[in-house]
Amino acid sequence: MSVRSPIRIVEVGPRDGLQNERTILPTEVKVAFVNALSKTGLSEIEVSSFVSPTWVPQLADAEDVFKRIERAPGLIYSALVPNEPGLERALAVGVAKIAVFTAASETFNKKNTNATIAESLERFRPVVARAKTQSLPVRGYVSTAFYCPYEGKIQPERVKPVAQALLDLGVDELSLADTIGKATPRDLRALLETVLLFAPQDKLALHLHDTYGLAIANALVAWEEYGICAFDASAGGLGGCPYASGASGNLATEDLVYALQASGAQVAVKPENVVAATKILASYVKRSSESRLGRVLQPSA
Ligand code: HMG
Ligand code: MG
Repeated sequence: MSVRSPIRIVEVGPRDGLQNERTILPTEVKVAFVNALSKTGLSEIEVSSFVSPTWVPQLADAEDVFKRIERAPGLIYSALVPNEPGLERALAVGVAKIAVFTAASETFNKKNTNATIAESLERFRPVVARAKTQSLPVRGYVSTAFYCPYEGKIQPERVKPVAQALLDLGVDELSLADTIGKATPRDLRALLETVLLFAPQDKLALHLHDTYGLAIANALVAWEEYGICAFDASAGGLGGCPYASGASGNLATEDLVYALQASGAQVAVKPENVVAATKILASYVKRSSESRLGRVLQPSA
């Protein structure tokens, strides 16, 4: 049981957060945001996506962002890659880790990537193989691992073959995503009981959106009961998927850090610095921060 292992947080705000904003932020603001996040103690930042700019215009400047950020030593700057053209773009700007993404529900995957689950896995085969030749670590997302906005509850038995297929392709890490933030601790336990039968605990991460306010509870259950030590989170609770109606922000990084530190976990991130990084976005992101700690530290905000 690795309950006492240090926590690894993957900051997804610059990608998951900004992909869902109505406003397309200027590249220099994104760069400043990533640079500020680089000073918070995080070990990995998902910076952008090399997806179709028609599908996600908010992140069409992925190359420029990667070229302009100041990369802190030891910090991993990763990106989403849906296919081989995306990988070529990512390699051209020195991305250090890539994430491929599919789902446990066919309807969501089709709307998000214009492919069936099987087709998306076939797309990933050459992507993962080529990433390996470049010594790039690969993460595999399984979206809608608990609920689908179109198909409702997704049973763990439907997550299993997708997660297993990603592991078989050679991904180094699996991120199980509660895309619409609806999972309860009971759902989480059921999924982890199934997935941990074939996936090593240290290859699992949880990607929790917080629509119903249960993401912190789920993260604490995953850590305390199952020893999961890798979590995705988003500064200020930004986030959502343009192709998942009803998805609200990710679990706020600063709230996750607070909850885990207060529970005795080793987390190297300074939550007040994460809150400070979100201030860079204040005049561009219209909705108020979802973060509890943000309100505590900036009561007038
Ligand atoms: P498609 O239209 O089926 O692709 O989209 P295609 O291969 O037929 O190509 C169509 C056009 O797109 C072509 O251009 C390609 O060159 C171009 P045209 O000839 O028409 O001028 N194209 C690209 N351009 C740049 N970079 C690329 C690329 N690929 C094709 N990589 C595709 C298929 C997968 C590309 C599209 O559906 C797509 O980009 N989807 C991404 C959607 C997305 O980013 N969703 C949000 C991220 S996932 C998420 O948020 C969930 C997550 O947070 C976990 C959770 O919470 O669940 C990870
Ligand atoms: Mg997400």
